[in-house]
Amino acid sequence: MREIYRGKAKTVYEDGDEVVMEFRDDITAFDAVKHDQIKGKGFYNAQTSAKMFTLLEKSGIKTHYIGMDGDTRMRAKRVEIVPLEVIVRNIGAGSITKNYPVKEGTEFKRPVVLFDLKNDTYHDPLLNEDIAEALGASSREEMGRMRDLALEVNGILKGFFAGHGIKLVDFKLEFGRYGKELLVADEISCDTCRFWNEKNESLDKDLYRFDKGDVLAGYKKVYEIVTSAL
Ligand SMILES: Nc1ncnc2c1ncn2[C@@H]1O[C@H](COP(=O)(O)OP(=O)(O)OP(=O)(O)O)[C@@H](O)[C@H]1O
Ligand SMILES: [Mg+2]
Repeated sequence: MREIYRGKAKTVYEDGDEVVMEFRDDITAFDAVKHDQIKGKGFYNAQTSAKMFTLLEKSGIKTHYIGMDGDTRMRAKRVEIVPLEVIVRNIGAGSITKNYPVKEGTEFKRPVVLFDLKNDTYHDPLLNEDIAEALGASSREEMGRMRDLALEVNGILKGFFAGHGIKLVDFKLEFGRYGKELLVADEISCDTCRFWNEKNESLDKDLYRFDKGDVLAGYKKVYEIVTSAL
């Protein structure tokens, strides 16, 4: 298979109209200023993602997921990634507490959906429909569809994790264009979600970002929950 992209955490190979994504043990934060390798992290993220996509598919959401090729490789439909990150926030944490007058731990009455431009050079700036259209990144109509889908995904994932004593604080989705469809693509894992346990302790990449504790133990905990339940 031909390698088509080596990102910060995954390597992507093309295989006809499919891709194979290898989840590596690399972990990065703050625009990759901080980077390390944590043995086993790729495995947990690949497996957690696979279960999350399976749960979404069962709930009627279309995703790029086809199946697993071994422990750390995911086979998916090859899509054209919409160059936006769609972020859903249920509880205030991370950048929203820095950029807005929101205290960490604030529960929003309704989920907050935000769009960032996927562009490391510009540090993934927040954008709205007008600038997304001006940049040719997405259209108002497509952003509306992604917003609706992201809220549906939020309902499914939040409900699932609540049933296991875990709060889904926020998460990031990437969508892919596939013919006329928009598929949930990329990954859904401890790298892309914030999860808090009953004591509001992180079980996600914040463990790494802020040196809050055993990173792999948090990833493993989420992996164990999703693999035993799904
Ligand atoms: N089904 C898919 N088809 C094609 N590309 C995909 C698919 N799912 C995810 N991708 C892309 O594959 C890459 C995965 O690599 P990784 O997550 O390591 O990238 P990254 O370093 O986060 O960089 P970036 O997301 O900014 O490109 C991402 O660019 C992601 O958008
Ligand atoms: Mg990525």
